[in-house]
Amino acid sequence: MNKYSNIFDKDFKKTIDYNKADEFAYVTHFLQNLGANSAEPFSEVALETLLSNEVLNSRVLNGDSLTYDNPRKLAQSLTLDLEFDVPFPPPENDQFTFIDLFAGIGGFRLALQSLGGKCVFSSEIDKYCKRTYEANFGEIPFGDITNFTDEKITDEEIDKTIPDHDIIAAGFPCQAFSIAGKRGGFNDTRGTLFFDVARIIKAKRPKAFILENVKGLVSHKGGKTLATILNVLRNDLNYFVPTPNVLNAKDFGVPQNRERIIIVGFRSDLEVNEFNFPEQNVDGSEFITGSSFGEIKEKSEVSVRYYLSDVYLNTLEKHRKRHKSKGNGFGYQIINEDETANAIVVGGMGRERNLIIDNRLTNYNPVTNIKGKVNKEGVRKMTPREWARLQGFPDTYKIDVVSDTQNYKQFGNSVAVPVIQAVGSQIINKLNV
Ligand SMILES: C[S@@+](CC[C@H](N)C(=O)[O-])C[C@H]1O[C@@H](n2cnc3c(N)ncnc32)[C@H](O)[C@@H]1O
Repeated sequence: MNKYSNIFDKDFKKTIDYNKADEFAYVTHFLQNLGANSAEPFSEVALETLLSNEVLNSRVLNGDSLTYDNPRKLAQSLTLDLEFDVPFPPPENDQFTFIDLFAGIGGFRLALQSLGGKCVFSSEIDKYCKRTYEANFGEIPFGDITNFTDEKITDEEIDKTIPDHDIIAAGFPCQAFSIAGKRGGFNDTRGTLFFDVARIIKAKRPKAFILENVKGLVSHKGGKTLATILNVLRNDLNYFVPTPNVLNAKDFGVPQNRERIIIVGFRSDLEVNEFNFPEQNVDGSEFITGSSFGEIKEKSEVSVRYYLSDVYLNTLEKHRKRHKSKGNGFGYQIINEDETANAIVVGGMGRERNLIIDNRLTNYNPVTNIKGKVNKEGVRKMTPREWARLQGFPDTYKIDVVSDTQNYKQFGNSVAVPVIQAVGSQIINKLNV
């Protein structure tokens, strides 16, 4: 048995530049798909990489080396007894396939794998996300998705470079859209990352898709942006797309008030013409963490580095008073144990709107450079693990491969896993897979 951790061990990972790791994306995708048709688009580059990289070359075959002069043939003959000894290996008996676009740290992947889905392609541009993703799934996502969807690339080429799959999952970033006309079409979305998703749908014709975005998409440009997206999906691409729903994570078994729009669609020939969005989590879901913050709070004392300095706390208090006097409700917020956390977000007041009181601190000596002293009221930020739990990520999910700063960013950008699991489950029911 060959272990993934022997092939991609710590020392090897140190040699990877995650900013441009595409050759290893090919290798890991190839290994994940070995023995299936979905390995085909990756095999040539993967084998070339394996042939030219001495360390990988000998490790993949446990010491023997690949010397075959026709990589394609070698790919077909290669059968490895490979064990993915990572927290979330591919399912053994997969029921359906999917691709993970704008993958982040794999919130969609966790949800869809738990339903028996096998991921056959992933893409994520951020190097820190790629690290976390690799540590948990044993796969390095490809970088910029536009490399696969550039205007010069034909639909046939896209079809060859991305394996066939049943479902596309994408939490595409919400950049400003500049859409001409009242209800724009395909070409009007050019230059946005939705366009790249649409191009892949057009070229690959998956059975279904699930897209996630911020609630603000509903009202963006007076609803025109969403109307254009729906027009493209329904009329240009010919999918049945029910009215999108805004779902709140707190209804799905995690203590976080996070509203997100979910758009799903089914290829019209499947004749699905009705879809009910779920109202609650899948029964017995492994991603349920609790209904109030107290249930997901760290079980023991946490490092002093999560505690605010008295100077900073003071600044926050002043800031809040100033805003209150102007009639604004915003400012820092303390979440009590019996309460639901605010949405965790990147930037702005993301962390400050989710402070808690935790009086278990015993060592008040700061471990980071802070102004003043550690506050005596026990006010601290939530930890990255608490943020992970707010999104339904299990404690077996590895978060120690990047800094706290990156962890907060990654979880703030991610999806609430039980929400996607519940929607995914309804999609699967409709597909009868
Ligand atoms: C809203 S987040 C999605 C997070 C993901 N759903 C998860 O569960 O972690 C959007 C992601 O798209 C990535 N991204 C932005 N532009 C990209 C591009 N051109 N190609 C690939 N990924 C991109 C960002 O780095 C970010 O991680």
